[in-house]
Amino acid sequence: MKLDFHSHILPLIDDGATDLENSVALVSAMADWGFERITCTPHITNKFRNTPETIRPVFEQLQEALYVRNIDVDLRMSAEYRLVPETWPEVLEKNWLMPIEDRFILMELPIFNPEDIGDIKPLEEFKKVISLGLTPLLPHPERYSYLSHDELMSFVEAGVKIQSNYGSLAGLYGEEAKQNTRKLVEEGLVSYYGTDMHNLHYVDVIGRYFAQGNPIIEY
Ligand SMILES: [Fe+2]
Repeated sequence: MKLDFHSHILPLIDDGATDLENSVALVSAMADWGFERITCTPHITNKFRNTPETIRPVFEQLQEALYVRNIDVDLRMSAEYRLVPETWPEVLEKNWLMPIEDRFILMELPIFNPEDIGDIKPLEEFKKVISLGLTPLLPHPERYSYLSHDELMSFVEAGVKIQSNYGSLAGLYGEEAKQNTRKLVEEGLVSYYGTDMHNLHYVDVIGRYFAQGNPIIEY
């Protein structure tokens, strides 16, 4: 099945879709490419303090808008949890984990400011999630320029699965992220791909990538 586990398509709750019509445009592009099920994963970070309660009404609003417009996509709800002290401990404490496909938890590291992680040790947090019977999914390791290969391998050996971005292969984040992704793929480390859809620029770049004959990977 053609699934996307990683998208910022809900309107106005993070740095993704800017209003409901923009959300609909992003989803309809994804449906045209062939995605059958899309999980919404708005950020939960120090900057975007989302909770299941802030996400649910917006999720239902988008579901309704798609239904009314006859856009046939199975929309699911989760979040992208960033390992930062402002939100991650509260996520665990208040049980805000919403598993994707009944098992994955999308757990990102800070991208540009590694110090935002504070005293959090990612490996320990991944192990906590594994002990709950869930599978941590680390998105776009190709974009963490500070993350060593050894540390990444320690995550994988603990049971973390890696999700790279279609956009990385398409050149959306520059040459370095593209080459990093290719290396990860060659090493057999990439288990899943996500669109990480944020806006219409992503639609252009990823759309071109699929139009060039690169397939959506099915799970
Ligand atoms: Fe994301």
